[in-house]
Amino acid sequence: MSLIRLLRQIKNDSDMWQSEAHGITHWDRVMENALMIGIENGADLKIVEYFAYLHDCCRENEWDDPQHGPRAAAFAKRKRDLFDLSDTQFKLLVRACSGHTHAHPNGRAGLDPTLAACWDGDRLDLGRVGITPDPNRLFSDQGKEYAIYNQAIGFNYEDF
Ligand SMILES: [Fe+2]
Ligand SMILES: [Fe+2]
Repeated sequence: MSLIRLLRQIKNDSDMWQSEAHGITHWDRVMENALMIGIENGADLKIVEYFAYLHDCCRENEWDDPQHGPRAAAFAKRKRDLFDLSDTQFKLLVRACSGHTHAHPNGRAGLDPTLAACWDGDRLDLGRVGITPDPNRLFSDQGKEYAIYNQAIGFNYEDF
């Protein structure tokens, strides 16, 4: 499976996968969140899986690195053969990585469901860095519902 090939490459190229805040444990949760949304909203689940492991892999630090999304997109383009995706799917993956930090839902009604699942899957894991996910900064109905539910039950990341 090419996801394994991608992970092998990422682990070879950088130590970021070991990061607590932005490494593989975060990527696993992003995949879980994004698949949960994607199954419901009709996202392309293959793209979602690649996004989870790719989107933060080119971070250069844990704090302020606004270009890490575009850097991940550039990494993907350099390693195109690692992705078992059509050119149309690959373009969407590149867009998902490139835009994942700065995209805002304002005026984005009808956003592609795959982008919505990817970006919400990432943002729903903000609790790991002490930020409560804001439903107004999420893109999918499923992501918003999940964030509101977590607020209602007093979900505390520290408990897990
Ligand atoms: Fe990121
Ligand atoms: Fe992330």
